[in-house]
Amino acid sequence: MSGPKNTALQAALTKIDQTVRDEADWGAPAQYIPQLAAIDPAQFAISVCLENGAEYSAGQSDTRFSIQSISKVFALIAALGRVGDALWNRVGREPSGTSFDSVILLESEKGRPRNPFVNAGAIVTTDALLSGREPRLALAEIIGIVRAMASDDDIHIDASVARSEKATGARNKALAHYLDSHGNLDSEPELTLGTYFHQCAIEMTTLQLARAGRGLAGFANAPSVLPLRRAKRINALMMTCGHYDGSGEFAFRVGLPGKSGVGGGLLVIAPGRASIGIWSPGLDHYGNSKAGTRAAALLSNAMRWSVF
Ligand code: DON
Repeated sequence: MSGPKNTALQAALTKIDQTVRDEADWGAPAQYIPQLAAIDPAQFAISVCLENGAEYSAGQSDTRFSIQSISKVFALIAALGRVGDALWNRVGREPSGTSFDSVILLESEKGRPRNPFVNAGAIVTTDALLSGREPRLALAEIIGIVRAMASDDDIHIDASVARSEKATGARNKALAHYLDSHGNLDSEPELTLGTYFHQCAIEMTTLQLARAGRGLAGFANAPSVLPLRRAKRINALMMTCGHYDGSGEFAFRVGLPGKSGVGGGLLVIAPGRASIGIWSPGLDHYGNSKAGTRAAALLSNAMRWSVF
């Protein structure tokens, strides 16, 4: 059941949609994944779910986009469910201050990635989920968690995006083989990477994404996939590491935990208040959505949702 509509929130979303389209400061889509490079950057959508069940959207909220690194949040939830705190023996919980695909810290830190959101850490997280079974079973678990959290079975993987990334993914291959050289992969690097590329190729609309974030927002009526204590910890990681070397800037401008993807998606959580899905495919120099980050800042300010 959805509660009474918040007209101020709908008015804020409509205004934000208009503002980002007027500003037209889109950035460029990810170039290193051919399938994403072809997308028109002049697109925008935003959706919000509140605890009373009310939902709000503006812009192209029916358009599916590639969630890319936002999938790392759902893979982390799945991996913690499978191996529990043992995951932290293999991956850290500190911001890296480096780009999402950086190799530099892996050598000095002996193959233990800084956090589960940089690519190296996400590859280890996916490997923990894969260990001892076939990729399709690990993928079924991740997509099952996404569908359960979003209360929606119409969420799928676009295999053509996964293939497109596999064909050009030399950097991730290097990371996986480096992790393997330190004994931090259980499966063959190619198997773990194949699973990781497919998880990144999950497609969702902003409304599906906002619904999938309700458990992270701690809503009492969210599907019970995620214990509250774990949601708190994942929000902390999203705040400190969710935007890589742009995490401090995102916290400064938005004041909320968030996770970006190079498809231009953003999952932003206002704990106890709102779950927010945003999409605009043009990126800033950190690889995070340019207009999406702008919209998150405008919304946080308009609704006074910053945690600070
Ligand atoms: O592994 C990659 O490079 C992509 N599949 C995901 C990277 C990503 O989304 C970074 N986020 N902004």
